[in-house]
Amino acid sequence: MKIIHFGDLHVWRFTPVWSELYYPKRWLGPLNLLFHRSKHFPPEYRRAAMDAIVNEKPDVAIFTGDFSSFSLQAEFEEADQLFAPLREQLGERLFALPGNHDCYTPRAHRNQIMQRVLPWVHAEPVSRLDLNDKLSLVGVNHSEPFWVASNGRVTSDTQTQLKAMFAQMKAEGRTVLLAGHYPYVSPEEYPESKDHKLIGDAEFAEVVKEGGPAVYMHGHQHIRWALRSERTPDTLCLNCGSVSMKHDRKDKQAGFLSWQQQDDGQVEHLTAHTFNGIDAWAKTPISAV
Ligand SMILES: [Fe+2]
Ligand SMILES: [Fe+2]
Repeated sequence: MKIIHFGDLHVWRFTPVWSELYYPKRWLGPLNLLFHRSKHFPPEYRRAAMDAIVNEKPDVAIFTGDFSSFSLQAEFEEADQLFAPLREQLGERLFALPGNHDCYTPRAHRNQIMQRVLPWVHAEPVSRLDLNDKLSLVGVNHSEPFWVASNGRVTSDTQTQLKAMFAQMKAEGRTVLLAGHYPYVSPEEYPESKDHKLIGDAEFAEVVKEGGPAVYMHGHQHIRWALRSERTPDTLCLNCGSVSMKHDRKDKQAGFLSWQQQDDGQVEHLTAHTFNGIDAWAKTPISAV
């Protein structure tokens, strides 16, 4: 089964939300956009990326969050249009989760702007999609709005639901592929910062260790990597990087991951796809050991 894992699309609009200017992110965000994000996320990369994914003809595609930059309705509407061809190709086999930018402020979260425009996203704490009679996808949503920071949080409710899901999978004799937005482990050279990390990552790692999914797919840090942590030796951790970010470094430049997924959990032909910024995508094998 051919899987594509991508994320961190970050559609952006420069639209101040005057009624929410009391909220620091509502003016910090657009300022950041003016000086930084608009250069690093060129709009023309978005369609090129979505076309490249459709052209790969995956059996399953997994999007691990951050459709938007500021949870604006117009950003989600553009994301919906960008995803339309892939949704048409895959139906429910496009499995998408929200990221922290998709619940940017408490009001955006409360008003469920993303859910109203993108009702096909799995915003529930824990979600499941069976891919065949052996393999299942499980999604976990740790995203919530923070005052200024970009953290996620592991809650006891999510932990309870995830443990129950793993127990159910075990009882059914299924191989689990887990997906979420945040890493619980990063390579030494890219440590997570205090205001960007998943709060409760160690507790989450414990549940992952117990459940033993074959892979954990995430994004959030816009860097592509594959690693296996001593904390969760049964699980290959995959960061897809951003699908639409412009960068000089290959592991940060716009791209995504693909592989052949075996029913027993083996990951074969793991490949990083990176955009040349114009019209072509390089394919580089990555070690999945
Ligand atoms: Fe992101
Ligand atoms: Fe994120």
